[in-house]
Amino acid sequence: MSIRVAAVADIHLSEAQRGTYRERLDGIEERADVLLVGGDLTRHGTLGEGKIVADEFRGLPVPVVFVLGNHDYHSDVEQEIMAVLREAGCVVLDDSAETLLDGRLGIAGGKGFGGGFAGKSASEFGEPETKAFVRHTREIAERWRTALKSLDTEYKVVLSHYSPVKETLAGEPPEIYPFLGSYLLAEAVDAEGADLIVHGHAHHGTEKGMTPGGIRVRNVALPVLQRAYATYCLDAEEC
Ligand SMILES: [Fe+2]
Ligand SMILES: [Fe+2]
Repeated sequence: MSIRVAAVADIHLSEAQRGTYRERLDGIEERADVLLVGGDLTRHGTLGEGKIVADEFRGLPVPVVFVLGNHDYHSDVEQEIMAVLREAGCVVLDDSAETLLDGRLGIAGGKGFGGGFAGKSASEFGEPETKAFVRHTREIAERWRTALKSLDTEYKVVLSHYSPVKETLAGEPPEIYPFLGSYLLAEAVDAEGADLIVHGHAHHGTEKGMTPGGIRVRNVALPVLQRAYATYCLDAEEC
């Protein structure tokens, strides 16, 4: 039996949205087996906003898996935000993996990072700041490989904030592609294998893409989807 994955990202909740996202999730258990939320949960990454997110997703009838996005790091309380989401009964991935649905579904991932795409990417060369930028992405990609390798499940899904491919950025200015994702993320997932990658961050991007290795990539940023979440079947296209 296939698994139905609901996914969204870039919900950017703040005080003004308190209570409004929850009602958009009513009946989700009839349409999906799990809900993935790909970062930029808040506007400014404050703990108050993190608590609003936790309240909106607390006690849903399907498991909820989060990663954080760059906005959720803005106030330097990302660990505290992860803690309140976990206290609300949700899974938070931070370059890690989790097994759900009686061992059938493995989810791996984390925030990801930028650097650009093959042939047009930054490299670990020159100033220490440039090296640190690229090294951060490379280390994340290595941790994703370890996380994926640890999963022994029927299906594997990767949840990220930053994009692993440039196809799903189409619509964004090409000048900012290096700040929207990195090919190193796709390379890591292609090496270990997965059934689906979902990400956000590119509000003006495109929903559908594919890694060089043929893994489906979906940009589920809320402004791209223009609905509360999209649903993907792991052995079919739309559910
Ligand atoms: Fe965003
Ligand atoms: Fe973002």
